[in-house]
Amino acid sequence: MEEWLKKIEEAINLEEIEKIRVAIFGKKGILAKEFAKLRELPNDVKPKVAKELNELKDKLNKVLAKKREELEKKELENELKKDAIDVSLYSPFNNKGALHPVQYTLDRIIEYFISMNFSIETGPLVEEDFYNFEALNLPKYHPARDMQDTFYFKDEKLLRTHTSPVQIRTMLKQEPPIRMISPGAVFRRDFDLTHTPMFHQVEGLLVDKKGKVSFANLKFILSDFLHFMFGDVDIRYRPSFFPFTEPSAEVDISCIFCKGKGCRVCSQTGWLEVLGCGMVDPNVFKAVGYENVSGYAFGLGIERFAMLIHKIPDLRSLFEGDLRLLEQFR
Ligand code: PHE
Repeated sequence: MEEWLKKIEEAINLEEIEKIRVAIFGKKGILAKEFAKLRELPNDVKPKVAKELNELKDKLNKVLAKKREELEKKELENELKKDAIDVSLYSPFNNKGALHPVQYTLDRIIEYFISMNFSIETGPLVEEDFYNFEALNLPKYHPARDMQDTFYFKDEKLLRTHTSPVQIRTMLKQEPPIRMISPGAVFRRDFDLTHTPMFHQVEGLLVDKKGKVSFANLKFILSDFLHFMFGDVDIRYRPSFFPFTEPSAEVDISCIFCKGKGCRVCSQTGWLEVLGCGMVDPNVFKAVGYENVSGYAFGLGIERFAMLIHKIPDLRSLFEGDLRLLEQFR
C-alpha cells in the first residue's frame, strides 16, 4: 500500500500514471489478485478483509485521480507556454492603426461635454416624421423643411436629417432639468465637395426651470467649448433662423487658416461658420408637454470640425476608406 502511494506521488507524467493505474486496478492488477484471495479465507474473517480491501481501493482511486488532475493541468500549462507569442519581438512592419479623424474629433467633443456634466443620448437613424420635423416646430408643408432634403421611406418613416429628434425623445422620456448631447449619423440628399449624403452631428440641449437658462449661458458654454476645440480663436454670434429655436444664431470662429485676414477657405471673409444654436422655441416645449421651463439647444457637424482641426480640404476623402488618409494621423 505505502509503496503504491509513493509510486503515484512520484509519477512525472500521465503515461506513468496510466501504467500505475493498470498495475493496481487492471484485470491482472494487484487489487484483482487480493480480491481473488478472499475466496480462500474462512467465512468469519472474509467480511473484515473485504471491507479493508474496499477502503484501500477507494483511497488509491482518490489519490490517483488527484495526481492525474495535477499532471493534466501541468501538461496544459506546458502546452500553452510552448505556443506563447513573444509580443516584444521586433517587427519590421509598421502596421499600427489610427483613429479616424471623425472619431478623434467626436472623442474630443464628448470629452468636453462630459466634463461639463452633460449626458450622452442616442436615437434611431430611421425616424418618424413627428420626431424629425413636427415636434420641432416644422409642421407639414412648412417651407423650412426644404432646408433639409430628406430621404423618405414609403410608410411615413424617413432617415433623420439632423440629430435634433433626440432632443424630443429625451424630453418625452425624462423630466427637466436636462443636460444632454447626442452624437450620431444624419442623412440628406446632397453630394458635392462640401456635402455627403451621410455625415455626423452632435446635438446639445439644456433645459431647466423658467428663468434659469439664458442666452448668456448658451454663449458661455459654446465659446468655452470652441476655445477647447480650436484654441485661441475669435468667436462671433450671428442672428439666424431655425424653426425649433427663438432667437437663433449661427456661430463663427476666426479663420484658422489665415488668422482672419481672408483666404480661399473662408471666402475672403476671415470667418468660418461652425455651429447653429438658439433658445428652445416655446412650440417645442409645448409638443413634449413641458411647462415653466427655459432652455437652449445647439447643433454642429462633426466632419466640419474634423476638417478644420486636421486641415483636410475635401469632405469626401473622410469616407473613401483610403489608408493614405489614415496613415497621416498615426
Ligand atoms: N438641427 C440643426 C441643423 O441640422 C442644427 C441646430 C440644432 C440648430 C439645435 C439650432 C439648435 O442644421
